[in-house]
Amino acid sequence: MNTEPVAVSLLGVSKTYRSGGAEQVVLSDVDLTIGRGQFVVILGRSGSGKSTLLNLLGAMDRPTAGRISVNGTDIGALRERERTKFRRVSLGFIFQAYNLVPTLSVLENVQLPLALNRIDDDASALRLLEELALGDKAEAWPEDLSGGEQQRAAIARALVHRPELILADEPTGNLDVDTGRGIIRLLDDLVRRNGQTLIMVTHSQEVIGYADRVLTISDRKLFDV
Ligand SMILES: Nc1ncnc2c1ncn2[C@@H]1O[C@H](COP(=O)(O)OP(=O)(O)OP(=O)(O)O)[C@@H](O)[C@H]1O
Ligand SMILES: [Mg+2]
Repeated sequence: MNTEPVAVSLLGVSKTYRSGGAEQVVLSDVDLTIGRGQFVVILGRSGSGKSTLLNLLGAMDRPTAGRISVNGTDIGALRERERTKFRRVSLGFIFQAYNLVPTLSVLENVQLPLALNRIDDDASALRLLEELALGDKAEAWPEDLSGGEQQRAAIARALVHRPELILADEPTGNLDVDTGRGIIRLLDDLVRRNGQTLIMVTHSQEVIGYADRVLTISDRKLFDV
């Protein structure tokens, strides 16, 4: 593993969307460094480019200009196959809408990243579910879980293969304040224990209290708050 203490670096990163004849510059010449093991919150009004930034960091999309490195890897230089592998091995994603696979049990959902990475450690999925107080729901279908339970299952799925970087887009957006707070506390505890980097888009003032660093996107740039 790379010992470089930088988790994420952006150098001169711009993102312009072109649809039809129209162009929209969402990020313009952004420079940013995020240290390993940090919990970073991204704020910004709707449409400011928060999800765009996460998509770039997660190699789901490519910048129009500039360079993005994650744990020492220049992700723009990766071929498509390597990008897929990078996403599968090094990243965990948590979404507002949970995105559990409805035809798989909770445990099977959590085992997915292990299977994709050919990691033979079925016990770790169940252990993680137990840590997230979902041990008794392992055999349940996702649709039979409450929203908070589904999000905890999604968190287990994002963490089970021990990715170096976890990207979360409004993970508590569909939950009440108390449930959201409990989930963030669990997530914060897990990622700190494992030295993982967590970058989270949120509107929640509650969540900001847990962060090491708060950034905001405004006028196509990123600023420390
Ligand atoms: N695939 C795309 N094609 C064209 N325009 C896009 C695309 N994705 C996002 N945009 C535009 O880029 C801007 C930023 O979108 P983005 O989804 O990053 O905002 P956001 O900060 O995540 O907003 P929200 O808080 O509402 O989720 C918006 O104006 C959006 O319409
Ligand atoms: Mg968004």
